[in-house]
Amino acid sequence: MATRVRWLGHAALLLESDGTHVLIDPFLTDNPKAAVKPDEVAADFILVSHGHGDHVGDTLAIARRTGATVVCNYEISLWLQKQGLQKVHGQQHGGSHRFPFGRVKLTLAFHGSMLPDGSNGGNPCGFYITFNDGTRVYDAADTGLFGDMRLIGEEGVDLAILPIGDNYTMGPDDALRAVKLIQPRKVLPIHYNTWDVIAQDAAAWAQQVRQQTQATPVVLKPGEWAEV
Ligand code: NI
Ligand code: MN
Repeated sequence: MATRVRWLGHAALLLESDGTHVLIDPFLTDNPKAAVKPDEVAADFILVSHGHGDHVGDTLAIARRTGATVVCNYEISLWLQKQGLQKVHGQQHGGSHRFPFGRVKLTLAFHGSMLPDGSNGGNPCGFYITFNDGTRVYDAADTGLFGDMRLIGEEGVDLAILPIGDNYTMGPDDALRAVKLIQPRKVLPIHYNTWDVIAQDAAAWAQQVRQQTQATPVVLKPGEWAEV
C-alpha cells in the first residue's frame, strides 16, 4: 500500500504506510485549525520534533489512549517518562533507528525546544523517514534555512514538509531556497495560517515552487490527504 500524508493543521501530520499510523507533532486541542480531535486520531507511533506546546500538543493524551510509542530527542523522552509514559524512544541528531514501519533519523533544526513547564527540551529536530516501501519523507519541522539541507536532499527525498509561516520559522522565500537545496519530488508547506502572525499565501508560494524548481507543490487544507 502506498504511503499517504494527511495534514491535520499547523505542524500536525499523519503519515500512513502499510497500515501503520505515524503521527507527528499532534497539536490539536488548542489548535484553531485542527482537522481532528485528539480522541479520534489513530497513532501507532508519535514523533515529536521539539518541546514547544504547538508540537508536544496532545502527545501525552494520545499516547495514553492508543499505546503509541513516542519517538523524540532524549531529553523529551525523559520528560515524557516523568509524566508516566512508558513507551518512549529517545534519539539524537544524526542518529537513526529502525522501527517496524521503517527507519527514522533525527535531522538538524535551528529553533528552540523548551517544554511547556519550562523543562529543558534538548535541541529541536526534524525527521528523515525511510518507510518500508522505500518512500522517503523529510519533515524539517520548526527551523530556519540551513545549508546542510543539501546533505539531507542528497539522500533522496520523495516528500519534503517545510514550514513557510515566517516569524518563528522559515518564511516563504527561505522555504523556496530550501526546496532548491533539498530537491524533493514533492513539497508540502506547513506551519502557516494558524494565527495572524504566520499568515501566508500558500498558493502563491506553490506557484513560485513550480516556476523555479522541479518539485511538485502539494498544498492541502487541514484534514486533506495526499499520496506521497
Ligand atoms: Ni516551535
Ligand atoms: Mn511551532
